[in-house]
Formats: sequence, C-alpha cells, structure tokens
Amino acid sequence: MSNPSHIQHVEILCGIPASGKSTYAHLRVSRDGYVRVNKDGLRQTMLCTQFDAQKEGFIHALQKHTIEYLLDQGHNIVIDNTHVTRNSRREIHELVAVWRANKELLTGIAHPVHVTTAYFGVDVDECTRRNAWRTSPVPDEVISYMYARLEPPTPEEKAGACPEREN
Ligand SMILES: Nc1ncnc2c1ncn2[C@@H]1O[C@H](COP(=O)(O)OP(=O)(O)O)[C@@H](O)[C@H]1O
Ligand SMILES: [Mg+2]
Repeated sequence: MSNPSHIQHVEILCGIPASGKSTYAHLRVSRDGYVRVNKDGLRQTMLCTQFDAQKEGFIHALQKHTIEYLLDQGHNIVIDNTHVTRNSRREIHELVAVWRANKELLTGIAHPVHVTTAYFGVDVDECTRRNAWRTSPVPDEVISYMYARLEPPTPEEKAGACPEREN
C-alpha cells in the first residue's frame, strides 16, 4: 500500500428542491473542474422523462456505474440530488468504500477518497418562492414532502463522516 495516489473528492449535496444545489454544482464544475452527477439529468438524457418511480431502479444503477467510472478515471465528483435522508447519503459513502476496497485489491495502492456533504438549509417558504419562478417548477407538494423527510447532516458528516445507520 505504498505510493498512495492523490486524494479524490466526492461532494454530496443535500437540500430540498430549489435550495440552490444545481447552481452550486455548476460552479463546482466551471470553477473547480469537478464532474456533476445528477439523476434528473440522467432521466432526461436516457429516458426523456421526469421522475417515474417504475424506472428509478434503472436510473439508480446508471448513477452508480457513472460514479464508479468517474472514480476510476480519477475525477472529483459533485452529486447533485436532494439526498434529504441519511440513508441516501450513506449509500454514497458505502458505494465509495466498496470502490476503494476493490481498487486497492486490484492495484495494491491506496486510493483515498474524501466524501463530504454540502448542506443547503434554505427556508422552505423561500424554496417554494424560488421554485415558482423556475422554468420547470416541481409541484409544491414535492417540496413539502422532501422537507418533512429532511434529516440535515451533522457537522461530522459534512466534514467526511459516514452517517449512522438507522435502527
Ligand atoms: N443563493 C441563491 N439566492 C437566491 N436564489 C438562488 C440562489 N441559488 C440559486 N438560486 C435560484 O433558485 C432557483 C433554484 O436553484 P437551483 O440551483 O436550481 O436549486 P436546486 O438544484 O436545489 O433545485 C434558481 O432559479 C436559482 O437561480
Ligand atoms: Mg437541481
């Protein structure tokens, strides 16, 4: 495990719709050279649809393979979905942990990846207002539903810790 390669960064964005995630993700790409992964974008590109629960398995798998490929290629990644639940964020941590273990097994070299979470804790009424001005607003009920499920990250999680498993 000598000669470790450079650290790669994975940044998970967390926030209800219209909280500013995609605006920030675009900045990460243009300013810092990250690659953006976004399920809405994959849905639109691959299936020409918006959210469809029956097709989420496909989109989920596609996102997983995309993240693994980008890690293989040495990229830093910003993952621009709502990630309002701890479970959804822990899943990304676990995916990265498995990727690292496999990579180290294959190469004999450590591949450190720092997984952090950026939280967009914007007031729900402000998000509803911003959403109304967008070209393709999401239904207000989706914002309320996401807000009801929101589990904000702890300072430790923001800095890199994997969120605790729920009981
Ligand atoms: N910091 C901000 N202050 C005010 N408006 C913002 C800010 N960040 C984003 N917006 C606006 O809010 C709307 C939603 O932003 P977006 O980044 O698409 O949110 P999300 O990806 O979380 O749904 C857009 O119209 C955007 O221009
Ligand atoms: Mg967005």
